[in-house]
Amino acid sequence: MDELKTFDPSQVSETDLRAQLDADLMPRHVAIIMDGNGRWAAQRGLQRIAGHQEGLRALQDVLEILHELNIPYVTIYAFSQENWNRPKLEIQLLMNLLERYLQEERSLFQKRRVRFRPIGRLHQLPASVYALVSEVAEETRHFTERVLSVALSYGGRAEIIDAIRQIAVEVEMRSLSPSQIDEPLFEQYLSTQGLPDPDLLIRTSGENRISNFLPWQIAYTELYFTKTLWPEFRRAETLYALLDYQKRERRYGRVTQTVSS
Ligand code: FPP
Repeated sequence: MDELKTFDPSQVSETDLRAQLDADLMPRHVAIIMDGNGRWAAQRGLQRIAGHQEGLRALQDVLEILHELNIPYVTIYAFSQENWNRPKLEIQLLMNLLERYLQEERSLFQKRRVRFRPIGRLHQLPASVYALVSEVAEETRHFTERVLSVALSYGGRAEIIDAIRQIAVEVEMRSLSPSQIDEPLFEQYLSTQGLPDPDLLIRTSGENRISNFLPWQIAYTELYFTKTLWPEFRRAETLYALLDYQKRERRYGRVTQTVSS
Protein backbone atom coordinates (compact mmCIF):
# COMPACT_ATOMS: atom_id res chain seq x y z
CA MET A 1 0.00 0.00 0.00
CA ASP A 2 1.26 3.44 -0.82
CA GLU A 3 1.26 6.24 1.74
CA LEU A 4 -1.56 8.77 1.76
CA LYS A 5 -0.90 11.67 -0.60
CA THR A 6 -1.36 15.32 0.17
CA PHE A 7 -1.75 17.29 -3.02
CA ASP A 8 -1.18 21.01 -3.12
CA PRO A 9 -2.46 22.49 -6.38
CA SER A 10 -0.60 25.76 -5.75
CA GLN A 11 2.73 23.92 -6.07
CA VAL A 12 2.23 22.48 -9.54
CA SER A 13 0.78 23.53 -12.85
CA GLU A 14 -1.36 21.39 -15.07
CA THR A 15 0.94 22.15 -18.01
CA ASP A 16 4.03 20.95 -16.13
CA LEU A 17 2.34 17.79 -14.97
CA ARG A 18 1.06 17.06 -18.42
CA ALA A 19 4.49 17.56 -19.94
CA GLN A 20 5.94 14.95 -17.58
CA LEU A 21 3.46 12.25 -18.54
CA ASP A 22 4.65 9.46 -20.78
CA ALA A 23 2.00 8.65 -23.37
CA ASP A 24 3.33 5.09 -23.67
CA LEU A 25 2.80 4.33 -19.99
CA MET A 26 -0.78 5.45 -19.60
CA PRO A 27 -3.10 3.20 -17.63
CA ARG A 28 -5.85 1.74 -19.79
CA HIS A 29 -8.34 1.43 -16.98
CA VAL A 30 -8.76 3.84 -14.07
CA ALA A 31 -11.16 3.07 -11.22
CA ILE A 32 -12.27 5.78 -8.79
CA ILE A 33 -13.83 5.83 -5.32
CA MET A 34 -15.24 9.35 -5.07
CA ASP A 35 -15.31 9.96 -1.34
CA GLY A 36 -15.60 13.06 0.84
CA ASN A 37 -18.54 14.99 -0.62
CA GLY A 38 -20.29 15.16 2.74
CA ARG A 39 -17.21 16.45 4.57
CA TRP A 40 -16.56 19.01 1.84
CA ALA A 41 -20.09 20.35 2.34
CA ALA A 42 -19.87 20.26 6.15
CA GLN A 43 -16.63 22.27 6.07
CA ARG A 44 -18.56 25.00 4.30
CA GLY A 45 -21.70 24.79 6.40
CA LEU A 46 -23.64 23.43 3.42
CA GLN A 47 -26.12 20.55 3.06
CA ARG A 48 -24.61 17.20 2.05
CA ILE A 49 -26.32 17.37 -1.34
CA ALA A 50 -24.30 20.50 -2.15
CA GLY A 51 -21.23 18.29 -1.69
CA HIS A 52 -22.62 15.72 -4.11
CA GLN A 53 -23.42 18.47 -6.63
CA GLU A 54 -19.85 19.76 -6.45
CA GLY A 55 -18.71 16.11 -6.60
CA LEU A 56 -20.53 15.80 -9.89
CA ARG A 57 -18.64 18.79 -11.26
CA ALA A 58 -15.39 17.18 -10.13
CA LEU A 59 -16.41 13.98 -11.90
CA GLN A 60 -17.07 15.90 -15.12
CA ASP A 61 -13.63 17.55 -14.86
CA VAL A 62 -11.86 14.25 -14.23
CA LEU A 63 -13.68 12.45 -17.04
CA GLU A 64 -12.77 15.28 -19.38
CA ILE A 65 -9.04 15.07 -18.70
CA LEU A 66 -9.08 11.26 -18.87
CA HIS A 67 -10.83 11.59 -22.22
CA GLU A 68 -8.25 14.11 -23.45
CA LEU A 69 -5.55 11.64 -22.48
CA ASN A 70 -7.28 8.86 -24.37
CA ILE A 71 -7.69 6.59 -21.40
CA PRO A 72 -10.31 4.20 -22.68
CA TYR A 73 -11.82 2.64 -19.54
CA VAL A 74 -13.03 4.39 -16.42
CA THR A 75 -15.04 2.81 -13.62
CA ILE A 76 -16.57 4.95 -10.87
CA TYR A 77 -18.19 4.04 -7.56
CA ALA A 78 -21.29 6.22 -7.62
CA PHE A 79 -23.56 4.35 -5.19
CA SER A 80 -22.67 1.36 -3.04
CA GLN A 81 -25.02 -1.19 -1.53
CA GLU A 82 -24.17 0.31 1.88
CA ASN A 83 -25.34 3.70 0.61
CA TRP A 84 -28.95 2.44 0.87
CA ASN A 85 -28.53 2.92 4.63
CA ARG A 86 -28.29 6.70 4.22
CA PRO A 87 -31.24 8.99 5.06
CA LYS A 88 -34.08 8.59 2.55
CA LEU A 89 -33.86 12.21 1.47
CA GLU A 90 -30.14 11.99 0.67
CA ILE A 91 -30.73 8.82 -1.36
CA GLN A 92 -33.54 10.53 -3.26
CA LEU A 93 -31.41 13.60 -3.97
CA LEU A 94 -28.53 11.40 -5.15
CA MET A 95 -30.88 9.51 -7.47
CA ASN A 96 -32.20 12.83 -8.82
CA LEU A 97 -28.63 13.95 -9.42
CA LEU A 98 -27.87 10.73 -11.28
CA GLU A 99 -30.98 11.19 -13.45
CA ARG A 100 -30.04 14.78 -14.23
CA TYR A 101 -26.47 13.76 -15.00
CA LEU A 102 -27.58 11.07 -17.43
CA GLN A 103 -30.11 13.33 -19.14
CA GLU A 104 -27.50 16.03 -19.56
CA GLU A 105 -24.61 13.78 -20.58
CA ARG A 106 -26.27 11.39 -22.99
CA SER A 107 -25.39 13.66 -25.91
CA LEU A 108 -21.80 13.92 -24.63
CA PHE A 109 -21.59 10.12 -24.58
CA GLN A 110 -22.60 10.15 -28.24
CA LYS A 111 -20.13 12.90 -29.10
CA ARG A 112 -17.24 11.23 -27.30
CA ARG A 113 -18.36 7.77 -28.41
CA VAL A 114 -18.46 6.46 -24.86
CA ARG A 115 -20.34 3.36 -23.81
CA PHE A 116 -22.18 3.97 -20.54
CA ARG A 117 -22.14 0.71 -18.68
CA PRO A 118 -23.93 0.54 -15.34
CA ILE A 119 -22.83 -2.24 -12.98
CA GLY A 120 -24.35 -3.48 -9.73
CA ARG A 121 -27.70 -4.83 -8.60
CA LEU A 122 -29.51 -2.37 -10.85
CA HIS A 123 -32.97 -3.83 -10.21
CA GLN A 124 -32.72 -2.31 -6.69
CA LEU A 125 -32.77 1.21 -8.17
CA PRO A 126 -36.04 3.21 -8.24
CA ALA A 127 -38.03 2.28 -11.37
CA SER A 128 -37.52 5.62 -13.16
CA VAL A 129 -33.77 5.57 -12.52
CA TYR A 130 -33.53 1.95 -13.65
CA ALA A 131 -35.41 2.81 -16.84
CA LEU A 132 -33.16 5.76 -17.68
CA VAL A 133 -29.96 3.91 -16.81
CA SER A 134 -31.03 1.00 -19.07
CA GLU A 135 -31.99 3.38 -21.88
CA VAL A 136 -28.66 5.23 -21.87
CA ALA A 137 -26.79 1.92 -21.60
CA GLU A 138 -28.71 0.63 -24.60
CA GLU A 139 -28.21 3.70 -26.78
CA THR A 140 -24.43 3.66 -26.19
CA ARG A 141 -24.00 -0.11 -26.34
CA HIS A 142 -22.35 -0.08 -29.76
CA PHE A 143 -19.39 2.06 -28.63
CA THR A 144 -16.52 -0.24 -27.82
CA GLU A 145 -13.43 1.95 -27.69
CA ARG A 146 -14.34 3.87 -24.57
CA VAL A 147 -16.32 2.61 -21.62
CA LEU A 148 -17.57 4.49 -18.57
CA SER A 149 -18.71 1.90 -16.02
CA VAL A 150 -20.80 3.35 -13.23
CA ALA A 151 -21.25 1.24 -10.12
CA LEU A 152 -24.78 1.68 -8.78
CA SER A 153 -26.14 -0.36 -5.89
CA TYR A 154 -22.83 -2.14 -6.27
CA GLY A 155 -20.99 -4.39 -3.84
CA GLY A 156 -18.00 -6.44 -4.86
CA ARG A 157 -18.85 -9.47 -2.75
CA ALA A 158 -22.42 -9.43 -4.07
CA GLU A 159 -21.01 -9.35 -7.59
CA ILE A 160 -18.90 -12.44 -6.86
CA ILE A 161 -21.87 -14.23 -5.28
CA ASP A 162 -24.05 -13.40 -8.30
CA ALA A 163 -21.37 -14.85 -10.59
CA ILE A 164 -21.11 -18.01 -8.49
CA ARG A 165 -24.89 -18.44 -8.58
CA GLN A 166 -24.94 -18.24 -12.38
CA ILE A 167 -22.09 -20.70 -12.67
CA ALA A 168 -23.79 -23.06 -10.21
CA VAL A 169 -26.97 -22.99 -12.32
CA GLU A 170 -24.96 -23.89 -15.41
CA VAL A 171 -23.20 -26.71 -13.59
CA GLU A 172 -26.57 -27.96 -12.40
CA MET A 173 -27.89 -27.88 -15.96
CA ARG A 174 -24.72 -29.63 -17.04
CA SER A 175 -23.83 -26.93 -19.57
CA LEU A 176 -20.63 -26.40 -17.59
CA SER A 177 -18.46 -28.85 -15.72
CA PRO A 178 -16.56 -27.89 -12.53
CA SER A 179 -13.23 -28.63 -14.21
CA GLN A 180 -13.93 -25.87 -16.77
CA ILE A 181 -14.07 -23.22 -14.03
CA ASP A 182 -10.91 -21.14 -14.05
CA GLU A 183 -10.10 -17.43 -13.70
CA PRO A 184 -10.83 -16.41 -17.31
CA LEU A 185 -14.15 -18.27 -17.21
CA PHE A 186 -15.09 -16.78 -13.84
CA GLU A 187 -14.40 -13.27 -15.14
CA GLN A 188 -16.98 -13.75 -17.86
CA TYR A 189 -19.64 -13.83 -15.17
CA LEU A 190 -18.57 -10.57 -13.54
CA SER A 191 -20.19 -7.24 -14.42
CA THR A 192 -16.83 -6.01 -15.75
CA GLN A 193 -16.74 -8.86 -18.26
CA GLY A 194 -14.65 -7.95 -21.29
CA LEU A 195 -12.80 -5.06 -19.61
CA PRO A 196 -9.14 -5.25 -18.63
CA ASP A 197 -8.59 -5.06 -14.86
CA PRO A 198 -8.03 -1.53 -13.52
CA ASP A 199 -4.39 -0.46 -13.67
CA LEU A 200 -4.95 2.35 -11.21
CA LEU A 201 -7.47 2.86 -8.42
CA ILE A 202 -7.91 6.34 -6.94
CA ARG A 203 -9.60 6.92 -3.59
CA THR A 204 -10.08 10.39 -2.18
CA SER A 205 -10.75 11.85 1.27
CA GLY A 206 -8.05 10.17 3.32
CA GLU A 207 -9.70 6.78 3.67
CA ASN A 208 -7.22 4.00 3.13
CA ARG A 209 -9.70 1.29 2.20
CA ILE A 210 -11.22 -0.48 -0.76
CA SER A 211 -14.78 -0.63 0.65
CA ASN A 212 -15.94 -3.59 -1.41
CA PHE A 213 -15.17 -1.93 -4.76
CA LEU A 214 -14.05 -4.37 -7.47
CA PRO A 215 -12.29 -6.73 -5.01
CA TRP A 216 -11.69 -9.42 -7.65
CA GLN A 217 -10.58 -7.01 -10.37
CA ILE A 218 -8.04 -4.99 -8.35
CA ALA A 219 -5.84 -7.91 -7.32
CA TYR A 220 -2.81 -6.31 -9.08
CA THR A 221 -4.00 -2.70 -9.33
CA GLU A 222 -1.83 0.23 -8.22
CA LEU A 223 -3.53 2.26 -5.50
CA TYR A 224 -3.50 6.04 -5.14
CA PHE A 225 -4.93 7.29 -1.84
CA THR A 226 -5.17 11.03 -1.31
CA LYS A 227 -6.39 13.28 1.50
CA THR A 228 -8.12 15.54 -1.03
CA LEU A 229 -11.91 15.50 -0.69
CA TRP A 230 -13.61 14.38 -3.89
CA PRO A 231 -15.15 17.78 -4.86
CA GLU A 232 -11.61 19.20 -4.86
CA PHE A 233 -10.08 16.38 -6.87
CA ARG A 234 -9.78 18.00 -10.28
CA ARG A 235 -7.71 17.91 -13.46
CA ALA A 236 -4.32 18.70 -11.90
CA GLU A 237 -4.49 15.98 -9.25
CA THR A 238 -5.72 13.50 -11.86
CA LEU A 239 -2.53 14.19 -13.79
CA TYR A 240 -0.51 13.93 -10.58
CA ALA A 241 -2.06 10.52 -9.79
CA LEU A 242 -1.26 9.32 -13.32
CA LEU A 243 2.34 10.50 -12.92
CA ASP A 244 2.57 8.77 -9.58
CA TYR A 245 1.33 5.60 -11.26
CA GLN A 246 3.91 5.88 -14.00
CA LYS A 247 6.72 6.13 -11.46
CA ARG A 248 5.95 2.80 -9.87
CA GLU A 249 7.29 -0.59 -10.63
CA ARG A 250 4.67 -3.09 -11.66
CA ARG A 251 6.06 -6.54 -11.23
CA TYR A 252 3.04 -8.82 -10.88
CA GLY A 253 5.02 -10.93 -8.42
CA ARG A 254 7.83 -11.43 -10.92
CA VAL A 255 11.40 -10.28 -10.32
CA THR A 256 11.41 -7.27 -12.57
CA GLN A 257 9.33 -5.66 -15.26
CA THR A 258 9.40 -1.97 -14.79
CA VAL A 259 7.06 0.60 -16.21
CA SER A 260 8.97 3.49 -14.68
CA SER A 261 11.12 5.55 -17.00
C1 FPP B 1 -19.15 9.75 -1.16
O1 FPP B 1 -19.12 10.93 -0.42
C2 FPP B 1 -19.86 9.91 -2.39
C3 FPP B 1 -21.02 9.26 -2.72
C4 FPP B 1 -21.73 8.33 -1.85
C5 FPP B 1 -21.68 9.48 -3.99
C6 FPP B 1 -20.80 9.82 -5.15
C7 FPP B 1 -21.56 10.70 -5.99
C8 FPP B 1 -21.11 11.73 -6.69
C9 FPP B 1 -19.69 12.10 -6.83
C10 FPP B 1 -22.13 12.55 -7.34
C11 FPP B 1 -22.15 12.46 -8.77
C12 FPP B 1 -22.18 11.16 -9.40
C13 FPP B 1 -23.15 10.75 -10.23
C14 FPP B 1 -22.87 9.65 -11.19
C15 FPP B 1 -24.48 11.35 -10.22
P1 FPP B 1 -19.71 10.89 1.04
O2 FPP B 1 -21.10 11.40 0.99
O3 FPP B 1 -19.57 9.51 1.61
O4 FPP B 1 -18.77 11.87 1.79
P2 FPP B 1 -18.38 11.82 3.33
O5 FPP B 1 -17.64 10.53 3.54
O6 FPP B 1 -17.52 13.02 3.50
O7 FPP B 1 -19.67 11.89 4.12
